Amino acid sequence: MPDVTLTTLQGLKQRGEKIVMLTCYDATFAQTASQAGIEVLLVGDSLGMVLQGHDSTLPTSVAEMAYHTTCVRRGNRGALIVTDLPFMSYASLDQALESSAQVMRAGAHMVKLEGGAWLCETVTRLAENGIPACVHLGLTPQSVNLFGGYKVQGRDEGRARQLRADAEALERAGAAMLLLECVPSPLAEQITRAAGVPVIGIGAGAATDGQVLVMHDMLGLSLTGRTPKFVKDFMAGQENIQAAFAAYTHAVKQGEFPTAEHGFSA
Ligand code: KIV
Ligand code: NA
Repeated sequence: MPDVTLTTLQGLKQRGEKIVMLTCYDATFAQTASQAGIEVLLVGDSLGMVLQGHDSTLPTSVAEMAYHTTCVRRGNRGALIVTDLPFMSYASLDQALESSAQVMRAGAHMVKLEGGAWLCETVTRLAENGIPACVHLGLTPQSVNLFGGYKVQGRDEGRARQLRADAEALERAGAAMLLLECVPSPLAEQITRAAGVPVIGIGAGAATDGQVLVMHDMLGLSLTGRTPKFVKDFMAGQENIQAAFAAYTHAVKQGEFPTAEHGFSA
């Protein structure tokens, strides 16, 4: 796979070819996933849960995100690396710039932040400094305490309208990519059609420009014993992890994953 860049992802959106993204936290899996054709590796703050065993993503630090990014960078074979800015590491513009600098120096090609239109100025400042930003909308796990749990977002018209407006404003502010988590499939389709930048989904239906899953979930591993509705076990029936990654890539590219059972209705 030739090195994936932002231009590659924009081209995939324009041609209607699905973008395949997976979380990744170390060198061996980075090599395996990128060699399986996974185009985007997300060093997600989900590492706080799946690697560190916390019950939320909130305890994860910028230093930890940078450390895992360096590990992923060493194993990566051409994928685009996106690293999450963790909880409270972008509450001010200065913090956002400093946190982003740390993960970009560690090897990220893009940073991801959770929020809404209030991040417009941050996204613009990052872009001015050469840092592409992906904004994570919908169910944003860093706000789990405000939401009162991990709940589907945008089922009522007020919140749906807010999410559409957030997406539009953030694109105008210079966001390079958007990510929708746990929103009704019809809303994700509207946002994807309206957006000029790639929109990745998780629990957002089949119409987004690409899909992402947490690696442990799609390998059928779970610390809690609970599997979210949007997860599919790609290890089932496969000989090894390489084959599971290839099956995931194939299913997303062919539009075979996700199906209606993995999504949420309006
Ligand atoms: O941290 C993470 O793994 C994520 C994905 C669930 C999108 O943000
Ligand atoms: Na995350």
